[in-house]
Amino acid sequence: MKADLLKRLFKAIRSEPPSKVNVLLASIVEEERRKGHVELARQLAQILERSSQPSPEDLAPSGFDTSERSFKELPRSRRSNAPLVTVVPPQLIRHQMVLREDIERRFARIEREYAARGRLSKFGLKPRKKILLFGRPGCGKTLGAERLAFNTGLPLLKVRFDSMISSYFGESATNLRSVFDAAMEKPCLLLLDECDFVARSRNEKNDVGEVPRVVNTLLQLLDDYDAPGLLVATTNIEESLDRAIFRRFDDVFEIPKPDSPQIQELLRLSFSALVVSKNIKWKELSERLNGLSAAVVVTVAQSAAKLSILDGRDTISLAEIERAIAELEETRGLQG
Ligand SMILES: Nc1ncnc2c1ncn2[C@@H]1O[C@H](COP(=O)(O)OP(=O)(O)O)[C@@H](O)[C@H]1O
Ligand SMILES: [Mg+2]
Repeated sequence: MKADLLKRLFKAIRSEPPSKVNVLLASIVEEERRKGHVELARQLAQILERSSQPSPEDLAPSGFDTSERSFKELPRSRRSNAPLVTVVPPQLIRHQMVLREDIERRFARIEREYAARGRLSKFGLKPRKKILLFGRPGCGKTLGAERLAFNTGLPLLKVRFDSMISSYFGESATNLRSVFDAAMEKPCLLLLDECDFVARSRNEKNDVGEVPRVVNTLLQLLDDYDAPGLLVATTNIEESLDRAIFRRFDDVFEIPKPDSPQIQELLRLSFSALVVSKNIKWKELSERLNGLSAAVVVTVAQSAAKLSILDGRDTISLAEIERAIAELEETRGLQG
């Protein structure tokens, strides 16, 4: 069990009502299940069920009521009535990440500042709240936002750009405003995922219509943002992000591709439910996979694990990993 989860459990037992403790116990069950400890997860879930009957809201990661109902007025597009945000069910929020130490520290710092927001405010200081994550696809930008939601206990609200951008003059900007209003009302982590259009649009000076309008509104809303929760934006674009965008965020950093030590950790983590054969030369293997995104490394590991399980074994050896790498090379090359 990860240290942060343990700490939260202890704190909850000390100071939270039983329903909130149940919430954490449920996330521990989920974590064990995700790790592949299916039998342990089943037994833990059984114990939980016997001792309490948590309501769906109780399954939230911590302190907040994250049911869709609790956001009484989920912002909706005025014309189509389509929801402008999705509330990610707390039991689906993932938090396990493999990161270079300096990047891990940047995430941890955001979480620590948020946890200390009360203490900071006594000194007239605010935690860093507006975060921009950038980097190549599959290195953990979306996962990073989930992890921040998990570790702060904030409900995760994902902005739906599909329903946000309306063809009606000026309506997209109104839509975006109502999303920010919702984030003012109740603490949450507002996720603007893959908002590449912000960076792109500023380079296309002749562009007219809704997108530049939304970009301008977004920049203005970012300037004024002082909501109780966090805002995380992500983009794959790095080179064309200009300073005007950077300075609107409290923290901007890249999530890089994993280096060889992180690749090793990703592989080991993916194989944690299996017996790992001694014939695997981790260092050599991780160096061969260097240059791939974390997502591709995880895919290779998972397909190797599946090959082994389908063959009726619970041991992973170099043979399955080699087969998984060969399959990947065949389908898309090893360029990550
Ligand atoms: N740093 C990481 N640590 C662990 N797993 C990762 C990491 N980055 C990516 N992954 C894996 O790859 C998948 C895709 O990552 P994602 O966060 O969607 O990438 P991005 O948003 O940067 O394109 C995740 O669901 C996870 O399985
Ligand atoms: Mg993503």
